[in-house]
Amino acid sequence: MDKIVSLCKRRGFIFPSSEIYGGLGSSYDYGHYGVLLKNNVKAEWWRAMLRERDDILALDSAIVQHPETWVASGHLAGFTDPLVDCRTCKLRFRADQLEQSACGRKPSKHPGETPDCDLTEARDFNLMFETTVGPVKEEGSTVYLRPETAQGIFLNFKNYLQFGRKKPPFGIAQIGKSFRNEITTGNFIFRTREFEQMEMEFFVPPDEAPRWFAHWLEQRMNWYVNLGIRPDHLQLRPHDADELSHYSSATSDVEYEFPIGWSEVEGIANRGDFDLTAHAQHSGQKLEYVDSATGERYVPHVIEPAAGADRALLAFMVDAYDEDEIGGEGRTVLRLHPALAPVKVAVLPLVRKDGQPELAAEIFRELRELVQAEYDEGGAIGRRYRRQDEIGTPWAVTVDHQSLEDRTVTLRDRDSLEQERFPIAELAEEIGRRLRVPWRSPKLQS
Ligand code: GAP
Repeated sequence: MDKIVSLCKRRGFIFPSSEIYGGLGSSYDYGHYGVLLKNNVKAEWWRAMLRERDDILALDSAIVQHPETWVASGHLAGFTDPLVDCRTCKLRFRADQLEQSACGRKPSKHPGETPDCDLTEARDFNLMFETTVGPVKEEGSTVYLRPETAQGIFLNFKNYLQFGRKKPPFGIAQIGKSFRNEITTGNFIFRTREFEQMEMEFFVPPDEAPRWFAHWLEQRMNWYVNLGIRPDHLQLRPHDADELSHYSSATSDVEYEFPIGWSEVEGIANRGDFDLTAHAQHSGQKLEYVDSATGERYVPHVIEPAAGADRALLAFMVDAYDEDEIGGEGRTVLRLHPALAPVKVAVLPLVRKDGQPELAAEIFRELRELVQAEYDEGGAIGRRYRRQDEIGTPWAVTVDHQSLEDRTVTLRDRDSLEQERFPIAELAEEIGRRLRVPWRSPKLQS
């Protein structure tokens, strides 16, 4: 993980937030390549939800919603973690995770293990961030930053029935920021207080819920594998009965084998009719499907695949990270699926003279119309390749002296290191072709 964190900072993917003020614990800023990579992760999620199906619609709901939302959803009463304070070191810990936490004075020991530790009784701590609407903090002005994007979808269910003219089974998908005042954060972007979720609520006739639950388990596992995650680093873990959230009758986590061990990147839950029924009771509105032809009416059940964009990005990065040697020199390379790679193609003149930069710039201008491309003419060619390898660029076009004679260039592959010569006129087509063919992590062969 340390290597990933250092690569992210060195190459402008992710920086600790507010660094000039000493940083703010577990808060991160995405830099240029981080933005491009996360955008690609989200675009692939939208593609799987919207472009490849015709039973899901998109939504972007507000972060601050009516406070009654969180009463109905159960978050105000129950979205808590047990918290203990240490009166000696003044740190706070999750009571159920003392064995994974480090004592503030003796980090080799767990809280409560040294004679100096003085822990309070555990008390429930609500994870929702509170704020107020309006200029005056007064009764009734308290609102919450959403701890999940899902509730915005339930609040809009009625709108979608009306405008979408959909009949269950159908889904509503959204990507957006969520906020949780986590007691213990850490492991880089794995657990932060502000993060992005990619959630979809799939509304189904009640008797079809088990079938759709199985469908979404399969679909979501395939999504990660098709985007290059090695299948032996991915598993589905069904929740035990005592782990289930208050709304769920069945949940399975998609887990990735991070350096910190197997951990959740996505939860897929059968939420039953919990949310629609609760919001109907609290709002006084009817939240049900009525078949206008048969008069049949029911409250749909909901299957929810809920993924974290930041965690998925971390899993893709960890899975892609590799080190090898070229000509006796070590190199770091991100073997990302080309669809996820922040930059698809780099265009590099071999030397900064003899008309090579001009021709390279011309090719760059053509390619950037099609894909995210980058032009780089500074420094030795080997160093420029290494830099692109580190940010995961799958292909590099090199303009050399032959290019000026016959308008051909070499196309270097990040993983095989093969360099093939192509006419400039065929480059765009070749890159398009390479982007379309199925891709498999080269790490699988080792
Ligand atoms: N609507 C259901 C829900 O929110 P969840 O399992 O609490 O379920 C879904 O969250 C996903 O959101 C998780 O699998 C994880 O990827 C991401 N997530 C949750 N808390 C997070 C945090 N503190 N930091 C980063 N990602 C988080």
